[in-house]
Amino acid sequence: MTAAESGPAREDALHGAETEARHSGSARKLSEHPVPGGGVLLEVSDLRVTFALRGRTVHAVNGVSMSVSHGETLAVIGESGSGKTVTSRAIMGLLSPAARVSGSAVLLGSELIGLTEAQMRRHRGRDIAMIFQDPASSLNPTMRIGKQITEAIRMHLPLDHSEARARALELLDLVQVPSPRARFDDYPHQFSGGMRQRVMIAIALACSPRLLVADEATTALDVTTQAQIMDLLMDLQDELGMSMIMISHDMGLAATYADRVLVMYAGRVVEQAPTERLFAHVRMPYTKVLLDAVPRLERAPHSLFATIGGRPPDLTALPVGCSFAPRCPRVEDLCHAERPPLTEHESRHHWACFSPCPDERR
Ligand SMILES: Nc1ncnc2c1ncn2[C@@H]1O[C@H](COP(=O)(O)OP(=O)(O)OP(=O)(O)O)[C@@H](O)[C@H]1O
Ligand code: SF4
Ligand SMILES: [Mg+2]
Repeated sequence: MTAAESGPAREDALHGAETEARHSGSARKLSEHPVPGGGVLLEVSDLRVTFALRGRTVHAVNGVSMSVSHGETLAVIGESGSGKTVTSRAIMGLLSPAARVSGSAVLLGSELIGLTEAQMRRHRGRDIAMIFQDPASSLNPTMRIGKQITEAIRMHLPLDHSEARARALELLDLVQVPSPRARFDDYPHQFSGGMRQRVMIAIALACSPRLLVADEATTALDVTTQAQIMDLLMDLQDELGMSMIMISHDMGLAATYADRVLVMYAGRVVEQAPTERLFAHVRMPYTKVLLDAVPRLERAPHSLFATIGGRPPDLTALPVGCSFAPRCPRVEDLCHAERPPLTEHESRHHWACFSPCPDERR
């Protein structure tokens, strides 16, 4: 890491007011992150997803290519509707049959796109698992916690009832639910939001997946619980050697926990780089605007936070050129005529822009 890469841009991102409260005393420094252990675990190429909606076509994901290395945490960020969830659900085979999916997602050497539900089930849980934003709607309110975990285990592993129960207790212990035996027969409503999210993590980890996709996994939680859950996920990742895709609106979370950050806009990747590099040398105007919108402590009380002007594009009628052009402070004529390709301009730093922001830390 260079001095510039650990400089003020990243500090700014980390010192947003919310982020400060969220991570005080609990954040891992980036320098403590494991160096991704070489070798690609997941390789996504030209992934596209459309939905037919009232006679129109929604172009939700438009040629996403990305990879995740063994042991790596990749943050995927972008405004609401940018295609983060649809991308991950397409990889997991969890979209409705109405979705049209093309492209490739190779996990541990196996192509996932185009698999039948029965074929996909062999990978889900074991190779790739997902945790969602809202544990309340993901857990069955009428079923005891222990039974829900046991059923998830038995769906994937050839264990009898008592072996599955022992494994479920082990998992509850792993995700630090206090007194797992006493809580085993509780119902979800007897757990707090943070404890329910721990149960969801236990279910996701039931078969020790190689890749965990956490989709806004902590967004619904208060800031203290959020930090505890993120720290738990990081510890589990180290312990189990998993890779993680962390989907978030929150630049502060990405800056604190991810090895690499990928920015999406209108169903495309518009910038990606190792975390330190991205925050110190942001080049794509959209990423810059996202960063500028992070609330900061030093702003005067009651001052308005920067917002992102304009509206996200209509995914049923994307422009031929750059999708960000109508909102971009650096727009040029060319941006309306042609789409900028995502290109690796610096080592491991890719951006898609004809007129990138100047590199202020060069
Ligand atoms: N079943 C569907 N039918 C039609 N359009 C859909 C469907 N599912 C998702 N979309 C559209 O696809 C686009 C991308 O949605 P997605 O949920 O991936 O966004 P996101 O980046 O995860 O946003 P958020 O941050 O709000 O979770 C949105 O415009 C959404 O309305
Ligand atoms: S290509 Fe043009 S419109 Fe798009 S982000 Fe770059 S400068 Fe802005
Ligand atoms: Mg989403």
